Amino acid sequence: MSDGQVYDTIAEHYRESKWLLFRHFIERYTLVELLGDLRDRTVLDLACGEGVYARQFKRSGAAGVTGVDVSEQMIALAEADERRDPLGCRYVCADAAAFTPAAPVDVVTAIYLLNYARTRAELDRFLQACYRALRPGGILVGFNDNVRRPPRPGDSLAKYGLEKTCPDPPRESDAIRYRLTNHDGQAFEFDNYYLEPATYAAAARAAGFDDFRWVDAMLEPSEQDDSYWDDFMTQEPLTGFTASKAAGTSATGR
Ligand SMILES: C[S@@+](CC[C@H](N)C(=O)[O-])C[C@H]1O[C@@H](n2cnc3c(N)ncnc32)[C@H](O)[C@@H]1O
Repeated sequence: MSDGQVYDTIAEHYRESKWLLFRHFIERYTLVELLGDLRDRTVLDLACGEGVYARQFKRSGAAGVTGVDVSEQMIALAEADERRDPLGCRYVCADAAAFTPAAPVDVVTAIYLLNYARTRAELDRFLQACYRALRPGGILVGFNDNVRRPPRPGDSLAKYGLEKTCPDPPRESDAIRYRLTNHDGQAFEFDNYYLEPATYAAAARAAGFDDFRWVDAMLEPSEQDDSYWDDFMTQEPLTGFTASKAAGTSATGR
């Protein structure tokens, strides 16, 4: 099954998983911190899923938001929300690697996109698409499987509704199996793919990003005294990242 077909079958469960606490207190908080003020910015949300972040960006004042996802069902959910509560988000069902917006944007987000690359060549294509879509001076912000800290024996994140398994140690292209358990008790699975941190750094540089950097996932300050989060923050299953397209570069190169 392709990644799009996998998400076609788990779309509703995936949407429900956005209620898991780590989504709000870590994932969302980290992204908001990294994105800064989105007012009057144009945003391209690659791998937008059912549009949870696209809608948030629009509500935060973004001038225009386009979401792109390869799963027809995820896009169908996003469009249904847009019909129910019109915010002006636009959605496209397409492979992010092949997508080019009509006009360059201020911000590209890649929230769990890059970890779908099975090979350096696939990662190159994702990062080239991010670079191509940005105006000079624009920023790329993302969230990802934390390839700097693969799961270790004895790790457990089950109390957060998140389990990750992979070979120890993982090698290039190995599958990382994610199992999410929602508050309603429904569990579902999907795979990401492991590529080494050095592969990410090299692919970002080759795409034109000179300043790609990982940013540790951050816990919302209101939760920082709660030991409930200790295992999550120690095992670091997820990570943020940022990069920018240098001002004064053309759309396709330096
Ligand atoms: C873990 S979900 C994240 C969705 C959304 N960014 C979020 O955080 O809720 C990963 C998404 O990536 C999409 N995806 C995987 N490969 C893709 C590709 N080549 N192009 C576009 N979307 C892709 C899947 O269909 C799925 O919706």
